[in-house]
Amino acid sequence: MKKSSLRLGVNIDHVATLRNARGGAHPCPVAAAQLAADAGADGITAHLREDRRHIRDDDMRRLKAEVNLPLNFEMAATEEMLTLALEIKPNACCLVPESREERTTEGGLDVAGQETYLREFCAKLKAAGIHTSLFIDPDTAQVEAAARTGADIVELHTGTYAHHTDAVELVKLQNAAKLAHGLGLEVHAGHGLTFDNVGAVAAIPELVELNIGHFIIGEAVFAGLDIAILEMRRAMIEARA
Ligand code: PXP
Repeated sequence: MKKSSLRLGVNIDHVATLRNARGGAHPCPVAAAQLAADAGADGITAHLREDRRHIRDDDMRRLKAEVNLPLNFEMAATEEMLTLALEIKPNACCLVPESREERTTEGGLDVAGQETYLREFCAKLKAAGIHTSLFIDPDTAQVEAAARTGADIVELHTGTYAHHTDAVELVKLQNAAKLAHGLGLEVHAGHGLTFDNVGAVAAIPELVELNIGHFIIGEAVFAGLDIAILEMRRAMIEARA
């Protein structure tokens, strides 16, 4: 199939991590999102965790109100988050598994194990005009279950590939992307992507969006956020060439 262009969503959670380390207002994740927009990001992703360890409710409200880019609201599929999403009305909600003990989102959502619940949850978001995305491992059963929930998008968890750059894991991502696309889902990917490992993922033709956070924010310390974003974009474009 012909490769379409690949959007870059920048996850600004860890700007908030740094802010919260000192309890003040600096550095501001909303200002970072504005800078990302100026540097050519296609969207902003932020994860409002149950424990509010980085992004807070008011950050989400301000990201929607003040930044002129589609907002991808990452959240657990809970009633509390549903209420906030329906108030804030982001462009999309990406449903992720969440546990308080984890350092970051460690695996994909078990869609197959809670298909009915997620179908009803997605329906409520979709009724409010919010696109729905499910963050899943590149696994056939999960992709097929995601398609049955009526979600618009699957975001494939690239963490295992990113940490091991293993050929078997890459094939799983390629096959899951092909299957999801064939089932009518829009296909995104993210987690653990860096300049070194983004190429093989970006080359998967069915992917239309990558969401990248920790590496870009870390790299921004050395190069500046705008340069980090431009370099990531360059690596993605090169991989698609
Ligand atoms: N996509 C999802 C669904 C995530 O949970 C995360 C991590 O918050 C990312 C993308 C970005 O991952 P990273 O920060 O490792 O680039």
